[in-house]
Amino acid sequence: MKDYIATIVKNEKIAENIHAVTFDMGEEVAVRAGQFGNISVGGTHLLRRPIAICKVEGRLVTFCYQIKGEGTQKLKTMEAGTRLNVLMPLGNGFFVEENERKVALVGGGVGVFPLISVLREYGAQKEISAYIGYRNKGAVCGVEEFEKAKKFAGVTDDGSYGAKMNAVQAFEKDLKEGNRPDVVLACGPTPMLRALKTLVEKENLLCYVSLEERMGCGIGACLVCVCDTTNGAKARVCKDGPVFNANEVQL
Ligand SMILES: Cc1cc2nc3c(=O)[nH]c(=O)nc-3n(C[C@H](O)[C@H](O)[C@H](O)COP(=O)(O)OP(=O)(O)OC[C@H]3O[C@@H](n4cnc5c(N)ncnc54)[C@H](O)[C@@H]3O)c2cc1C
Ligand code: FES
Repeated sequence: MKDYIATIVKNEKIAENIHAVTFDMGEEVAVRAGQFGNISVGGTHLLRRPIAICKVEGRLVTFCYQIKGEGTQKLKTMEAGTRLNVLMPLGNGFFVEENERKVALVGGGVGVFPLISVLREYGAQKEISAYIGYRNKGAVCGVEEFEKAKKFAGVTDDGSYGAKMNAVQAFEKDLKEGNRPDVVLACGPTPMLRALKTLVEKENLLCYVSLEERMGCGIGACLVCVCDTTNGAKARVCKDGPVFNANEVQL
């Protein structure tokens, strides 16, 4: 992990309310799928913004972000040449074991972006099926990446793109048709992860979820990001996660 002074090379809209920013980190970086960066947007915004690392190509690192509050509004306005502090790579990330051949990716909302990094890291070695839920057609992004998976089911809440269902329903439908994975990797809004947890428990499937919590330091020191585990202890999402076995955390 290092606090890079990274230079924006591109910052553009990729879908409704979603932008992708690519930084030149000044040197080649090594990252595991599902890890994240903590981006300082400067000025009066003291707290950094945690964003999943979506793509790494040599010195170039791309983050995709939804415009939400002040920090991401400010990031959106930044042009090529702007230099920002980016602390990365942070967190544990996703890890697919040798014997886990069939992998299901279940994602929704901004949870789509870390799953793109899984596809880029494991796509060549594993049989990956991606079940990705978007709000509507305008929010659809990353399709060119997900289409590289063995199977891609892109669905929307309103049926304006793909079937009218959510990512968990798309996964469940395929499961019922006999496409049973060795492991499920998921990221998305908590209600989505909760529904997935119920399904994988019923189906006795191994599942890892990447959690999104408000963060401060991003390195395990401030305890802003703690979540409850199923054995009664607390875990730091930034340092012990953000990826947890679904049966280890309360959702
Ligand atoms: C591990 C991890 C990975 C993430 N990956 C992505 C991603 O790839 N793309 C994306 O669009 N978003 C991602 N998020 C959510 C993203 O961090 C928030 O949307 C963002 O920080 C909002 O900042 P803001 O200034 O626009 O909003 P504001 O509401 O103005 O933020 C105020 C403060 O709250 C924090 N905050 C607000 N919402 C969140 C949130 N959901 N999670 C964590 N901190 C929050 C901000 O960092 C900031 O310190 C991720 C969050 C985590 C924890
Ligand atoms: S954000 Fe500080 S401990 Fe996790």
